[in-house]
Amino acid sequence: MTILFKNIKELIQVRTEQISFVSGKEMNVLPTIKNAYLIIENGFIADFGAMDNCPNSKVDEAIDATGKMILPSWCDSHTHIVYAGNREGEFVDRINGMSYEEIANRGGGILNSAKKLQDISEDELYAQSKIRLEEVMLLGTGAVEIKSGYGLTVDAELKMLRVIKRLKENYPIEIKATFLGAHALPKEYKNNKQAYLELLVDKIMPKIAEEKLAEYVDVFCETGYFSVDETEFILKAGKKYGLIPKIHVNQFTAIGGVQIGVKHNALSVDHLEEMRDEDIEILKNTTTMPVALPSCSYFLSIPYTPARKMIDAGLPLALATDYNPGSTPSGNMNFVVSTACIKMKMTPEEAINAATINGAYAMGLENKTGSITVGKQANLLLSKPINSYGFLPYSFGTNQIEKVYLKGKEVNFNREL
Ligand code: NIG
Ligand code: FE
Repeated sequence: MTILFKNIKELIQVRTEQISFVSGKEMNVLPTIKNAYLIIENGFIADFGAMDNCPNSKVDEAIDATGKMILPSWCDSHTHIVYAGNREGEFVDRINGMSYEEIANRGGGILNSAKKLQDISEDELYAQSKIRLEEVMLLGTGAVEIKSGYGLTVDAELKMLRVIKRLKENYPIEIKATFLGAHALPKEYKNNKQAYLELLVDKIMPKIAEEKLAEYVDVFCETGYFSVDETEFILKAGKKYGLIPKIHVNQFTAIGGVQIGVKHNALSVDHLEEMRDEDIEILKNTTTMPVALPSCSYFLSIPYTPARKMIDAGLPLALATDYNPGSTPSGNMNFVVSTACIKMKMTPEEAINAATINGAYAMGLENKTGSITVGKQANLLLSKPINSYGFLPYSFGTNQIEKVYLKGKEVNFNREL
């Protein structure tokens, strides 16, 4: 099956060479071809270039993209899409003055979601989660990482991870799974945290390895959750089972989580709302991708990751949604890209790089997706007619995407967003 897109107003994020990620000043460079063509063959990008050089060969389908842009689909490297119910009640509590921390301290927050998830069947959890997965695909996400961490028991954590596996088998979107057992301490372990850590390491990790349920391991390294030493304990154990670290750090307090991530070659360190100079310094010239989650800052009214300072210091940055019921009940990467521009002063070029190639790297998918490169999956966004790619973040809250293609096929669930 060969598809030709012709007369593309601008083909965005074209990379003739495979690259891993972009950092510092390079983040402000977004290569494009105006008046372009793109050929996809059997789900992969086969050729592209200026319309003047468009080959005349026979194709199965030709799509006229006059006035429209094509860019690689979004790469969302940090989500908690598999969850049960919602936390709308806590949202109202926060409006009425309670803080996220106060809600968690009275047994709400992550423990509230865990209770809901423990009480429903695997099939019901799958049914609830697939609605969100389909929603983000229609919004242009073509690769996503999904974490466990709302189970907090052996059975419920495995239930979450099996649901992620099922989603992976049933949808064309690339999915990476992360084990986040160390997300919060269940009440039963209040006076024996070490026993909970041992449960994660001795009872759940072997099962994960046996059933191949996750590629990554995560810890909520934060005051009141898991300390730096406890994080290190989990990362070291994960390593034995081939789990690569991707960790939650510096969301509310900077306690040395970035350092421990870098020390253990974390693929990414995520959140980073609170960044000290030494946290920026330690990330320089490493293979660890810093990941910002601006929708979380927006929803919780907490500081935004200091993107300007980090990029100006030469660091790379990826953008992701953090889609979860407590701190970010939204999986809209278009909003993330807009918010990064509006609130974090990233340029449209930086934000698009952060949400495509750098996000792909933060999931180990940089060789498969995240740019318009021959041989990569044909994961594409076709925009509505717009004047320039800067219009995407500018027109925040408006969906400028006309169609989404994953592995060369149009995404369509016969339902509206
Ligand atoms: O990334 N910070 C930790 N975990 C999630 C939120 C968890 C929740 O409130 O349910 C996050 O923001
Ligand atoms: Fe998160």
